[in-house]
Amino acid sequence: MTQAFQKVSALRGMNDALPGVGARWEQLEAIVRDWLAGYGYRNLRTPVLEYTRLFTRGIGEVTDIVEKEMYTFTDALNGDSLTLRPEMTAGMVRATIEHNLLYDRPQRVYAMGPVFRHERPQRGRYRQFHQIDVEALGFAGPDVDAELIVMLGRLWQRMGLTDVRLELNSLGQAEERAAHRAALITYLESHKDVLDEDGLRRMYSNPLRVLDTKNPAMQAMADAAPRLFDFLGDESRAHFDGVCKRLDDAGIGYRLNPRLVRGLDYYNLTVFEWVTDRIGAQGTVCGGGRYDGLIALLGGKPNPAVGFAIGMERLLELWEQAGEREAEPECDVYIVHQGEDAQRLAAKVGERLRDVGLAVIVHAGSGSFKAQFKRADTSGARVAVILGADEVASETASVKYLRGAGDAAPAQQQVPLAALPEVLKSKG
Ligand code: HAM
Repeated sequence: MTQAFQKVSALRGMNDALPGVGARWEQLEAIVRDWLAGYGYRNLRTPVLEYTRLFTRGIGEVTDIVEKEMYTFTDALNGDSLTLRPEMTAGMVRATIEHNLLYDRPQRVYAMGPVFRHERPQRGRYRQFHQIDVEALGFAGPDVDAELIVMLGRLWQRMGLTDVRLELNSLGQAEERAAHRAALITYLESHKDVLDEDGLRRMYSNPLRVLDTKNPAMQAMADAAPRLFDFLGDESRAHFDGVCKRLDDAGIGYRLNPRLVRGLDYYNLTVFEWVTDRIGAQGTVCGGGRYDGLIALLGGKPNPAVGFAIGMERLLELWEQAGEREAEPECDVYIVHQGEDAQRLAAKVGERLRDVGLAVIVHAGSGSFKAQFKRADTSGARVAVILGADEVASETASVKYLRGAGDAAPAQQQVPLAALPEVLKSKG
C-alpha cells in the first residue's frame, strides 16, 4: 500500500504570487523596463548562485548579511562553498570584470530577480524577495549619482506614489572614514558601559554599524557620537554638494541623514535611501549609493560606480495602496461552443482571432452554455463568441458583448466567420 503523501508547503518567508497578483508583477515589470529604457539602461542577467567568497569579500565580513543572513551550503559534488545571492551588486560587478565590460566605455545596466536573505520574516521582510537592481559602472561624477536619484523620483511619479522621502548622506573616502573611525573608537571606548553585546563585538571591527543600533538604551550615546560628515575633506564635500545642487535643479527634496550608513561595506561618498511610512516597519523601498572601490576589491581594474536596488514586494505594496486598480482581464474574447463540430471550429476560430492580435480563451472541454457563459464572464472578456450547431451550418458566429460595447453595438449579433476577426478587432 502506498503511504499518503504529506502535503508540501512553501518555505517560510518565501511567497507564491497567485495569478491575479502575478499580473500586477508583470505590469510593474513592464513599467520598470520602459522607465529604465528611458535612461539607456540595458539588462544584465547573472546567476542566482555564486561562490560564497564573492559576497564575503564584496559585501564585507562584518555585516549582518554575511554574518547571519546568507543561504550558504557546500556543493556535495566538489566541496565548493556556494551562496544564493543576498543582493545583486556583487554579481553584477563580477560579471563586468569577468567579461571586461568596461574596457572601452562605461555601462548602464540593470537586473530584476530574486535574492535571498535568512532574516526573520514579517510584513515587508521576506527570505526570498525581489530587487530591481540598477548599476552605473565606470562613472565618477556627482551628475550620475543625481541622475539615478532623479530617475527614482520619476518612477514614483509614474506609479502615483507620493509618500516616499529621500534620505541622503556622504560616507566620504577611506582616509576620512579612517580618521572618523579612530575618533569613534575612542568615543565608544569611553562609553563601554552602555554598549550591548553586538556593540561591544563590533566596536573595533565595524564601529560605524554600532551607531546603527535599534537598541533604545544606546540611542543617546549614538546621537552624540562623532559624525563622519564632519570628517569629510574638500573633495568629498564638493562631490556631495554637486549631488545636492543637481537634486535642487530637479526639484527633488531630501533630508541629510548623517546616521545613514547602509548595511553593506562597499559604499563611499553618496549613500541614499527612499523611505515611506505607509507599509509598516519595513519602510525602506530603495537603497543605494556610490561604491568606487568595489570593482578593484573584486580584482578588476579600478573603476568608479554607483547604483541602487528597489525592493519589489515593498514597492508593490505601496503601489497597491496608492489606488484601486481594475483586475486585468484574462482575455479579450471567450469562445463558448456546443457539440464536437463546434468545439473543433472554435479552436480554428480562436487561431484566426489571435492572428489579428486578440487574446482568446477557447472554452476547454464541454459543459452547458450557462456554465460556459459564467466562465466567460469571470474571465473579464469583452466579448463572447458563441458557436453551436446552427452557427456551424451557416458559417457564422453569434457575438455577445459582455461589457463596454458602447451604445452603437447591439447586445448580440450574427457575424459571418470570415468577417469575425475584423469585426472584433475594430470593436477593440
Ligand atoms: P539593500 O539596502 O540591502 O541594498 O537592499 C535594497 C532594498 O531591498 C531595500 O531597500 C529593501 O527595499 C529591499 N529588501 C532588503 N531586504 C529585504 C527583505 N528581507 N525582504 C524584502 N525586501 C528587502 C542592496 O541590496 C544593494 N545591493 C543596493 C545597491 C545597488 N547599491 C548599489 N547598487
